Amino acid sequence: MERVPPSMRDKIMSAEKAAMLIHSGMSIGVSGFTSVGYPKAVPNALVKSGHARDLTICVGAAVGDEIDGAMVRAGLVKRRYAHQSNPDLRNAINRGEVEYSDVHISHFPMNMNQHTGKTLDIALIECTAVSEDGLYLAASAGSSDAAVRNADKVIVEINENLPEGLVGMHDIFEVGLPPHARIIPITDPRDRVGTPYIPCPKEKIAAIVLTDLHDQPQQFKPFSDSTAKIGENVVKFLLGEVEAGRLPESIGPIQSGVGSVGNAVLSGLAKSGLRHLMMYTEVMQDSALNLIEQGVFDFVSSSSIALAEENRRRFYDNIDYFKDKMLIRPQEISNHPEVIRRLGIIALNTPMEVDIYGNVNSTHTMGTKMMNGIGGSGDFARNARISIFATESTAKKGLISCIVPMVSHVDQTEHDVQVVITEQGIADLRWKIPRERAELLIENCAHPDYKPLLWDYYNTALKVSAGKHTPHVLEEALSWHIRFLETGSMK
Ligand code: COA
Repeated sequence: MERVPPSMRDKIMSAEKAAMLIHSGMSIGVSGFTSVGYPKAVPNALVKSGHARDLTICVGAAVGDEIDGAMVRAGLVKRRYAHQSNPDLRNAINRGEVEYSDVHISHFPMNMNQHTGKTLDIALIECTAVSEDGLYLAASAGSSDAAVRNADKVIVEINENLPEGLVGMHDIFEVGLPPHARIIPITDPRDRVGTPYIPCPKEKIAAIVLTDLHDQPQQFKPFSDSTAKIGENVVKFLLGEVEAGRLPESIGPIQSGVGSVGNAVLSGLAKSGLRHLMMYTEVMQDSALNLIEQGVFDFVSSSSIALAEENRRRFYDNIDYFKDKMLIRPQEISNHPEVIRRLGIIALNTPMEVDIYGNVNSTHTMGTKMMNGIGGSGDFARNARISIFATESTAKKGLISCIVPMVSHVDQTEHDVQVVITEQGIADLRWKIPRERAELLIENCAHPDYKPLLWDYYNTALKVSAGKHTPHVLEEALSWHIRFLETGSMK
């Protein structure tokens, strides 16, 4: 297929000219998810000219440095929704310079569709191709469909470096608005229920920019003994569920969270003996690509294919092999509670810290500084068949315990967290009362350096707490975080 049909070629212009359609104070809905499939040429032109400031950037999840880094450093971004992970953006948020609101991945497009916030002036979307029917995206979908649907105008970047084989890998489905929202008829991760393009009337497209700029590749930390051990523990737990008859041999579709720990833990499935599994997830990372080739996964449905440089090349060069094993969906569908619950997803997410009663902090360093945002962890944790949180038991070379008396910020409550796994062991919290949860978490999951301190806290709480249901020493509960802020160590 032609990347731009003859009937639309009159819309082709330079990135510099298209950037002039963007004015100060505008809200821009941007394509991309976990730095895959985001526009680069127009953002570069915006940084160069500096003419449009006080912008609100709306994008489902992190985008590359051209937007979340360079535009922020140039002082063009006033407000940013939803998930992010660029260190410069994070620092600007934590200095209070960029206004940031963290939203569940499944809620963000829903909020756009329901017009609960500012109207989008422009949707800025990277595509593989465009036709009179609509837009064929790059290797992510994210909230692009909602941005195109709700923006006044659309600027399209056609990236001629993307393999044409990406056309046909997407499944775009519009849920619609309540009370007439549609049932999402997905009963298997392989189901196609929509169109391979985002419907978009030709008249709405204000500019088409041709580019060949590459996405920033993903960078994962190398696997460690500790992440390998967490992977082993996850497999041990899952095989135990199969043995006990609580899960079938082909355990439910798996969701795995973004990040180095999630990537390393998932790769543990290679040695599990489990085969012919599927993923229904938000982001497909490197380990999932390998697991397809190893026959562990038959199929992966995601909203973004986020790979390190070498694997991205392998994926693009062999797209015909992967094409019938993968599907890319809008984040509203990849993370929709209706589908997660129906499919019986096994959710694997990474917390920053977990407290002794099972509450999870996924987003805030020491309670006040934003890390990346909640992403899809809340969507999956609440609605999954089994909600697992897996982390190393310590962070920052052991100076921080990831099991604490009370989390310094709550993202997932004790009601959304069923199993906690560290390199130390497994705490299955299902059906447990709070005191049983505390004992399991301390005994099975905490690092030996912190176990005595946690037992001290818990035993004192048992004695002095007014309530014996969830015993706490309130004046001491956050003393571990305060100690870290004052001395650089929780010990
Ligand atoms: N306190 C302070 N810092 C902590 C911490 C804690 N309790 N736990 C982890 N960190 C730091 C790490 O030290 C590391 O810092 P560094 O980059 O300066 O080395 C950083 O967080 C990232 O941790 P890392 O060990 O590299 O793992 P990761 O890449 O897997 O990221 C999270 C871990 C928690 C930050 C990441 O999984 C996340 O953002 N989760 C929330 C969103 C989510 O679950 N999304 C998935 C849904 S699809």
